[in-house]
Amino acid sequence: MFTAKTECFTLANGVNIPCIGYGTWQTPDGETTADCVRAALELGYRHIDTAFAYGNEKSVGEGIRRSGVARSEIFVTTKHWVTERGYAKTVNAVETSLKLLGLDYVDLYLIHWPCVAKISPDWKEINADTWRGMEKMYRDGKIRAIGVSNFFPAHLDALIAMSEIKPMVNQLEFHPGYPQIDNIRYSQSCGLLAEAWSPLGSGAVLSDPALNEMAAKYGKTAAQLCVRFALQCDVLPLPKSTRPERISANADVFDFAISDEDMKTLLAMPQLGFSGFLPEDAPADAIA
Ligand code: A2P
Repeated sequence: MFTAKTECFTLANGVNIPCIGYGTWQTPDGETTADCVRAALELGYRHIDTAFAYGNEKSVGEGIRRSGVARSEIFVTTKHWVTERGYAKTVNAVETSLKLLGLDYVDLYLIHWPCVAKISPDWKEINADTWRGMEKMYRDGKIRAIGVSNFFPAHLDALIAMSEIKPMVNQLEFHPGYPQIDNIRYSQSCGLLAEAWSPLGSGAVLSDPALNEMAAKYGKTAAQLCVRFALQCDVLPLPKSTRPERISANADVFDFAISDEDMKTLLAMPQLGFSGFLPEDAPADAIA
């Protein structure tokens, strides 16, 4: 039974979020994205994750319309980009994303990358100003939940201290070989839902022999093991694929459970498939 449609996490504001999302990072704009999003919805996904920086919001909207699934049944996330920091630009950025998506509201809007000390000594104020723009759009009903992405504890602490509405989500890179579990646990301890980008390590971890051996033990693929691993850490996975059979299989993870011992092994795997993206180091404009 396919239950990515019905199983949900609940955010701090009471909004339900389907527990597996379909990721669209690096999915080419145009027919590919529109068709993949339509396929994911037809295959039972009810949660689509995009971003302004992915350049495919328009096609994501097209895919949603093509699927024929009611808007109210779909959870749509998009993200604020680093060039739009500050209150007024952020308000405008939300409007731009809504226009591109062809939607009246999004379910979740995230700060894609934090402003950090290397970029500006005023990074805390800059993030807080961006956040105020998001709070306005949340109060205006254009966004049902607000959160962040790639925030390490110091970034999160500063934002929480300066905000009226606390962030509800932190989306981080997470997969066997790079679970950055301390950052994940910190977000969770602050009451945020942690989400996993690249839960399959962008495909790089899927050929690992140890991972495949463990997956075979459960009669599952390495990709399914990765998705289940996230769920068992209370982390919401956002796997992506452009192939319908994989889109479907990646969410077929509700008929097995990874043992405690294997969870420990997965958490302790040597580094593998790390993207190299860190909020403090990366050239902010070049990151997607
Ligand atoms: P493809 O689109 O050809 O299926 P992540 O979600 O961690 O970013 O990983 C996405 C990458 O993993 C894509 O390159 C995708 O390629 C590949 N991928 C997704 N699902 C599977 C799967 N079930 N088996 C093998 N590769 C997969």
